[in-house]
Amino acid sequence: MEEEFGIIGRSPAIQRVLSTINQVAPTDISVLISGESGTGKELVARAIHVQSRRKEMPWVVVNCGAIPEGILESELFGHEKGAFTGAVGSRKGYFELADAGTIFLDEIGEMPLGTQVKLLRVLEGKEFMKVGGTKSQHVDVRIIAATNKDLERAVRAEEFREDLYYRLNAVNLRMPPLRERREDIPLLIKRFTSQFCKEHHIEFEGFTESALSTLENYSWPGNVRELKNLVQSVIVLEKGHKVDEFTISNYLQGAGNIDRNLPVPTHRTSEQVEREFVYHALLDLKAEISKLREDIYHWMYSENRPKSLPYYSEVFPRTPDTFQESENNSDLDLENRTLAEIERHMINRALENHDGSKRKAAKSLGISERTLYRKIKEYDLPY
Ligand SMILES: Nc1ncnc2c1ncn2[C@@H]1O[C@H](COP(=O)(O)OP(=O)(O)OP(=O)(O)O)[C@@H](O)[C@H]1O
Ligand SMILES: [Mg+2]
Repeated sequence: MEEEFGIIGRSPAIQRVLSTINQVAPTDISVLISGESGTGKELVARAIHVQSRRKEMPWVVVNCGAIPEGILESELFGHEKGAFTGAVGSRKGYFELADAGTIFLDEIGEMPLGTQVKLLRVLEGKEFMKVGGTKSQHVDVRIIAATNKDLERAVRAEEFREDLYYRLNAVNLRMPPLRERREDIPLLIKRFTSQFCKEHHIEFEGFTESALSTLENYSWPGNVRELKNLVQSVIVLEKGHKVDEFTISNYLQGAGNIDRNLPVPTHRTSEQVEREFVYHALLDLKAEISKLREDIYHWMYSENRPKSLPYYSEVFPRTPDTFQESENNSDLDLENRTLAEIERHMINRALENHDGSKRKAAKSLGISERTLYRKIKEYDLPY
């Protein structure tokens, strides 16, 4: 079997994942999926849901790392009218919306300790209380959690409750990084190529043998997501022509560092710089869509919000978009700058333009305030 539940791969590691999915899906047991970014944690979580008896019931995705700490609890459990300033009406939380279905708690390692206590209560007693509420409500929800953090270490550091960890970790599914199952790379390339070409009616002449072996030997820090994005951008940007190892190495250079935010060496032609920008823009497409969801989420939190949330909701932080103000970019010599320098420059300028207001600067950059704070720290900016 080369593909099951949309999970492509025939390596022993993936076979083990598939057999665990088949074993746990029919039960109500909690599953903790761990693994690096882009290894397919969400894909697996969804596979468990659609294989379970809850498949016709709600599937609710909550990214615990993307929801501001102060409102995570009311997002998860809902709130009563008047529970806090602005709570003009009562509102259902994700757990209530997921009743009889499955809730996927992504980035569970980011959950604040206070909220962890409440989550434990749901796991143990199937009961929760709305923020500002006085009586417990019963709820029947299967919990699947995911993390790319080392939760055991978080437990030792007392950032994550041990009792909750053991509760969630009834079954631990570890998603292997792509570099540990290189034998799946050719198959993944084949599938992603044919899916993409079919979807967009593109004729693609394919990769040369040596291009394929370059891809097989690459470290894939962004795992399957990175591979999928790379295949798609190469096909588009090379206009469907045959791709050899030299062309591929151009794409891998831009993405080849372990951390995409590390400064990239210069001495490149402006064409190369431009290509890297386009490549990164493609990588960020998913994040763009997530930003839209985030906006919807903020809108829902405004005065006009509806009484209840849609049962499927997903909120992710957005990765930085360095292209927002590119037309005003004439004051920076792109050719002799690294991507990190350009990003730093744009963030600094946005903060200057808004007299240090992080909210406004983040808005003008099209990134979340959280991302902006992270970037300010990362680039050591004086704000
Ligand atoms: N084995 C696989 N077969 C097919 N597609 C896969 C596989 N693994 C991952 N993908 C694809 O890669 C992308 C990333 O997968 P997913 O969102 O599930 O990763 P993740 O582990 O949740 O990442 P993150 O930690 O960044 O949220 C998705 O487009 C998914 O469909
Ligand atoms: Mg995910």
